[in-house]
Amino acid sequence: MTTITFITGANKGLGYETARRLTELGHTVILGARDPERGAAAATRLGVRFVPIDVTDDASVARAAADVEAHEGRVDTLVNNAGITGRHAGAGDLDGDDARAVFDTNVFSVVRVTHAFLPLLGKSDSPAVINVSSGLGSFTLTHDPGRVESTITAPLYPASKAAVTMLTMQYAKALPGIRFNAADPGYTATDLNAHRGSQTVTEGTDAIVALATEPAEAGTGRFVDRFGPVPW
Ligand SMILES: NC(=O)c1ccc[n+]([C@@H]2O[C@H](COP(=O)([O-])OP(=O)(O)OC[C@H]3O[C@@H](n4cnc5c(N)ncnc54)[C@H](OP(=O)(O)O)[C@@H]3O)[C@@H](O)[C@H]2O)c1
Repeated sequence: MTTITFITGANKGLGYETARRLTELGHTVILGARDPERGAAAATRLGVRFVPIDVTDDASVARAAADVEAHEGRVDTLVNNAGITGRHAGAGDLDGDDARAVFDTNVFSVVRVTHAFLPLLGKSDSPAVINVSSGLGSFTLTHDPGRVESTITAPLYPASKAAVTMLTMQYAKALPGIRFNAADPGYTATDLNAHRGSQTVTEGTDAIVALATEPAEAGTGRFVDRFGPVPW
């Protein structure tokens, strides 16, 4: 039986590459994206189905879940990938609206989308949720002078990713019937960082693809990158 995989923010970057690779590996990929034109164009390129979803909008997320319910009837793997860095500004200039925007897209969306898709995951024999976090959300890596994560100071995005990792661990403990794991793509050239990242998108999706294709026994509540476990 095919694995049905829903990916948010999949019109470009790591989400698109995940959609491309998992389609190649035989998954039935549903490409989620907020912009109808960009989403449809990306889905057409991959020969997969496009479902509109703005992860910050309750009604849009509910419509996406209803659409998948009507068409595919279940989801085996949900990839919460959509994310933003937020406005580039000094720490002292950041305000509540900046924080709300970053946390809404990166963190609250994980709760919003997971909540809406739980009934669809419940229809899977082997349900899994992959949350795309970041090494920038790791307390250990952001304090390790040998790591690029320690050289970046940007209060909101790293804090949001620390929250994504913790949410993943808490869901894993609360819902043992579903595997919840967090992936750190590593510093990857995408629009998110004006293509300054040192990895290709293929390298950047290794951890996500590994989590999406591993056997259920691999476990839940883990935080991994393409080389293995990531320290909290
Ligand atoms: N690149 C890296 O080095 C790196 C490292 C660690 C973690 N990550 C994480 O990897 C994930 C993907 O990032 P990326 O590097 O591929 O960045 P990207 O190329 O900028 O792609 C981000 C995707 O998220 C979508 N998105 C943003 N807000 C959305 C919303 N409200 N609703 C639905 N989709 C939304 C974007 O859609 P639009 O095209 O419509 O804007 C786009 O498809 C993010 O969670 C990011 O934090 C990236």
